[in-house]
Amino acid sequence: MNQPLKLVVLISGGGRTTVNLQERILAGRLPARIERVISSRSDARGVELAKQLGLSVVVVERASHDDEAFQQLLTEAVRSVPADLICMAGFLSLWRIPEDCLGRVINIHPALLPDFGGKGMYGHRVHEAVLAAGRVESGCTVHFCDNEYDHGQIILQRKVAIPPGCSATELAAKVFAEELEAYPEAIRLIAEGCVRWREASRTAPTG
Ligand code: GRF
Repeated sequence: MNQPLKLVVLISGGGRTTVNLQERILAGRLPARIERVISSRSDARGVELAKQLGLSVVVVERASHDDEAFQQLLTEAVRSVPADLICMAGFLSLWRIPEDCLGRVINIHPALLPDFGGKGMYGHRVHEAVLAAGRVESGCTVHFCDNEYDHGQIILQRKVAIPPGCSATELAAKVFAEELEAYPEAIRLIAEGCVRWREASRTAPTG
């Protein structure tokens, strides 16, 4: 049998995604192990929840460092544990992913990328934008990350229908229910070797 996939989880907020992954792992439904949770905010609810679950948590505080120092500390924190896969789970800072980590970083976004992603597109803003655009469906996307916000090779998407009169709060709940299935499923596909990062999919370097 394959060894469980070693995960590092990057968070900035609520931690529901992390809790879901850990619950799936403990239930024997996800062949993985969370080696460390790294938070960009010490006051994130996710820090508390992850600790309650007995997970190893490290904070690399975005607000206390300039970008260069933050990038360096974050990269060091990621590299300090042997990770097969680095999962962004509500991580709101941009991490300049070093070459040795490219292809091993994934993210979940609460919309059907490539639409409704990018800097500043998180939380309710995403769902409000989807509704303002008059869309009749939304969903979530799990993707490999490159060095742009919400960008990179798509692993899978799950869709939801948007009924007339749906509010942003209702849409958020519908999409999150799909996220609870989508992220473990994407990790399982990677663990089983069914999905691989295609280097050709990376964003061309600029400058
Ligand atoms: C999720 O909606 C996810 O799609 C997005 O951030 C949210 C994370 O929620 N990337 P939480 O912090 O895990 O509660």
